[in-house]
Amino acid sequence: MGRKIDNIVDILNFYKNLGFKDLPGQFVQSLLEQFSEEAFPANYDESSEHGQLAIEKLSDEIRQCKKCPLSNSRKNPVCGEGSINAKLMFVGEAPGVDEDLQGRPFVGEAGKLLTSLIEKMGFNRKDVYITNTVKCHPPMNRDPLESEILACFDYLKREIEIVSPQVIMCLGRVATYTLMGMDGKLKDLHISRIRGKVFFYNQIPVIPTFHPAYLLRNRKDKWLTWQDAQEALRRIK
Ligand code: URA
Ligand code: SF4
Repeated sequence: MGRKIDNIVDILNFYKNLGFKDLPGQFVQSLLEQFSEEAFPANYDESSEHGQLAIEKLSDEIRQCKKCPLSNSRKNPVCGEGSINAKLMFVGEAPGVDEDLQGRPFVGEAGKLLTSLIEKMGFNRKDVYITNTVKCHPPMNRDPLESEILACFDYLKREIEIVSPQVIMCLGRVATYTLMGMDGKLKDLHISRIRGKVFFYNQIPVIPTFHPAYLLRNRKDKWLTWQDAQEALRRIK
């Protein structure tokens, strides 16, 4: 990084030695912009410390967020958790009652099933990144409203940007249509019609699968989730 900045001096000296005393300001400005982009890349992969700070700032914002009415009824906002270097990210729908009480994602019954899927895939919970489409619990466990999803979407986008996973597994219909565009036809399809395909969000493969809460009620579909998990594993390097 330092060497690249030194290169600016080399370049300026090169022009000076050629006899240019006063280089045009615009030229110097464009050099500076070019090199500062390289020195401070938007890509957080280059520095976990930078990523860690970015995720902490994001969590602080979520904890204070009042962008939608769910902030009035929630007990605790639920930020994503896991590794910011995770290759695999899970996106659920919204915190349930247990998550609202504990302020952590997927800690109730559905969470236990998700944890066992993660372990079956060869990871620990702390190796992956787990988050939700909306960060606050909707009253009576209703589906989040489109307005709530839109208000919260910026947080999910930033999590994806910071973690930059190799694969995203969307748990259920809501997470899938949120990432794949609210105006598309996915919104009206049952998850059983959506899963089995691979979508892309900013070039990251998105693999929709059943929500673990659905699997608790429909155990016969578990094997299909395992097929989706294997598709995800095939795409992880
Ligand atoms: N269901 C979800 O979608 N998310 C959770 O965190 C828990 C249950
Ligand atoms: Fe903010 Fe999202 Fe919670 Fe709404 S659901 S208050 S947008 S964090």
